[in-house]
Amino acid sequence: MVDRRSARRTRYLDRLDGAAALILGGTHAIRNSDSEYRYRPHSDVVYLTGWEEPEVAALFRPGSDHPFVLFVLPKDKERETWTGRRSGVEGAQEAHGADLAFPYSELAARLPVLLQGYERLHYAYGDCAEHDRIVFGAIANARGALRNGVCMPTKLEHSRMLTAEMRLCKDHDELAALRRAAHITADAHVAAMRAGLPGTFEYEVEAAIDATFRRAGGTGAGYTTIVGGGPNACVLHYVQNRDRLESGSLCLVDAGAEFDWYTADVTRTWPVSGRFSSAQRDVYTLVLEAQLAAIACARPGRPFRDMHDAAVAVLTRGMIELGLLDGDLDELIVEERYRKYYMHGTGHWLGLDVHDAGAYHVGLGSRVLQAGHVVTVEPGLYIAPDDEEAPEALRGIGVRIEDDVLITPESLGGAPDVLTSACPKSIAHVEAACAR
Ligand code: GLY
Ligand code: MN
Ligand code: MN
Repeated sequence: MVDRRSARRTRYLDRLDGAAALILGGTHAIRNSDSEYRYRPHSDVVYLTGWEEPEVAALFRPGSDHPFVLFVLPKDKERETWTGRRSGVEGAQEAHGADLAFPYSELAARLPVLLQGYERLHYAYGDCAEHDRIVFGAIANARGALRNGVCMPTKLEHSRMLTAEMRLCKDHDELAALRRAAHITADAHVAAMRAGLPGTFEYEVEAAIDATFRRAGGTGAGYTTIVGGGPNACVLHYVQNRDRLESGSLCLVDAGAEFDWYTADVTRTWPVSGRFSSAQRDVYTLVLEAQLAAIACARPGRPFRDMHDAAVAVLTRGMIELGLLDGDLDELIVEERYRKYYMHGTGHWLGLDVHDAGAYHVGLGSRVLQAGHVVTVEPGLYIAPDDEEAPEALRGIGVRIEDDVLITPESLGGAPDVLTSACPKSIAHVEAACAR
């Protein structure tokens, strides 16, 4: 991956347009008391450097003799006995291509010198008070140099604006990781459908998913897995995953494997007993129709927003047919009455982060899709169990169907490439995977 990252850095240095940039990674987050979460590297750090250890700072100095500087945890035999091997400053230069490398503890002291000559600095201010203290302290300490005519950063730009733009279009290595994540995720959803027998618990389904993710060599779930049986499917961020799966109900699973730090994001909804009831089938068919209509808009040159509009049109029409809404279709859409049953967006960028970096609007308009973008397409319909205005047979049904789609070049036809197409989705395929 070093070459691809080196190409990204060259592009980044160029696009900084004379500004310096400082990107800081994180540290182990505390879970509780003195127990830590496993460290997950910062996405911008991974993207530009591939460095996977905590406490790292990447400094970019366009136009200098040493444009790429890394501050990392140095080798330390005693500390490594407790917390694991470190690549050290040697590894930063030899294996990660840094022009200069220093111990992380020297960051504050060295910044004033290394930032000299740069009037502008890209930095993710506001994310971490400790980082702000180091960076702003270093700039404040250089005030004397400023008075003596030395150029130091006086203009701050948020670093995420540029990295987000760069991360929007995925390169070859990123797509390989996403395809792998998608493949593992499809297998995990099939394992979930098999595991979720009547009487099992939501956490057993989650366990089957986690096992599939980890056995395939992924780093685990790219976000907290949702396993919502019955009406739990109507709670959008349900992650407790502790209820029993009842025969006759649906189970909604939103789970994505992370591989090489890239995550898939897939939702499937399936019948616990193995067969959709008539009411469940009606809702599922409608959501699937909305999803296919939205995926058809995932083409180069189309505004991102078209996918949502297409899904909303199909879903709102279906809400009238199902007896959930009453009135004129266009008015119901303009007045956003569909939001009672479809209250979220239809998709988002996908990559290193599940809700990946990148603006959805450019100027006043929706961003236009282009080859290399990867989006999720995830319409749903959620009818609360206590919704007395809804037909009784529909109450408590929640369905979402979510796939990951690569926008392909117009020159190759521009057809949406559904990266997660191996995951059962049609009623026939889902029922076959859920056969009891
Ligand atoms: N799994 C988070 C989402 O679908 O956006
Ligand atoms: Mn999603
Ligand atoms: Mn999802």
